[in-house]
Amino acid sequence: MTYKIAVLPGDGVGPEVIEAAMIVLDEIALDAEYIYGDIGWEFWRKEGNPLPERTVELMKQTDCALFGAITSKPKDEAQKELAPELQGKGLEYYSPIVKLRQLFDLYANVRPAKAYPGNPLNYKDNINITVFRENTEGLYSGVEYYPVPEEIDNAFKDHPRYKKFIGIDKAISLRIISRKGAERIIRAAFEFAKQNNLKNVTVVEKPNVLRETSGLFVRVARKIHEEYLDIEMWETNIDAQAMWLVKNPEKYDVLVTSNLFGDIISDLASQLVGGLGFAAAGNIGDNYAVFEPVHGSAPKYAGLYKVNPIATIRAVRMMLDYLGEKEKANKLERAIEEVVKEGKVRTYDMGGNASTLDMAKEIAKKYSQL
Ligand code: IPM
Ligand code: MN
Repeated sequence: MTYKIAVLPGDGVGPEVIEAAMIVLDEIALDAEYIYGDIGWEFWRKEGNPLPERTVELMKQTDCALFGAITSKPKDEAQKELAPELQGKGLEYYSPIVKLRQLFDLYANVRPAKAYPGNPLNYKDNINITVFRENTEGLYSGVEYYPVPEEIDNAFKDHPRYKKFIGIDKAISLRIISRKGAERIIRAAFEFAKQNNLKNVTVVEKPNVLRETSGLFVRVARKIHEEYLDIEMWETNIDAQAMWLVKNPEKYDVLVTSNLFGDIISDLASQLVGGLGFAAAGNIGDNYAVFEPVHGSAPKYAGLYKVNPIATIRAVRMMLDYLGEKEKANKLERAIEEVVKEGKVRTYDMGGNASTLDMAKEIAKKYSQL
């Protein structure tokens, strides 16, 4: 079967890390058609939409997407950069990657943090954690108010803790945790642990303060755990978990948490094993998936071919897994491992001066020799 894969370079360093990934994909010789799509900042400027409808349509015709990076900017900055003819049209800018996750209901953001032996950046060598970040709701639900409409104030006027906020200048972001949303991400985490013979899943929330949202998440986890009693389940608070990840990261196999907590804790986890140059993510739903490096568009490095492409190459590895190409996926993983261990080719973040493409070529070469 010929796969159809949407390739979405984006902006900033996005196109160069995708170029690197394609060098590796060429070597892998997957039976696939790669279809490039428009996405990113320049399309916001020119068309008022960083994720044009034609790109969404293209994605719908593919099996999955490989995505580079896009700049996500605060609202005011984004408005200023619109083409003059689009100014004042009330166009709303929303982070395109967050939009993609919601549009395709990619509820599981899977973020492995694995230490490759010999990586000079490792904090410890025996770390292998996979973060399951809920990817469609929580504080990223996109239900926000500023200014807060009067009807919201009215609806809460008798609430004992809301009262003091009535009529004052304020902003609100809703943190929505649905039972279904919690169930599917927690189940995905346990399934992953089971399939990979892992020992523990840690549910990371904050139910002592966020009694209702985190409370529901943890209750759902306890229920699902009953189906996976061979796996140990720990419950921790997000603040303490940040500390414990620094203290003894080797203890944890899988972390599962809501959207913003997962955003933060996965960055922390990635820094334990080399930082964002190594961190890849799969945004996975029931019908589609988008694979990407966790790092952003890093505008100051754009065009310099300096950044480490391993994050994007690991995203390729996750994509191969998703497509069921286990043999190729494992071989690619070994190729990355070998290249890191040999240490002959290192990008600037690893203390070397190899370029983005040098690293990709080295990994492709190693792949061909395995
Ligand atoms: C990530 C990024 C995004 C997020 C940004 C770019 C909107 O930080 O993928 O972790 O917050 O999810
Ligand atoms: Mn992030």
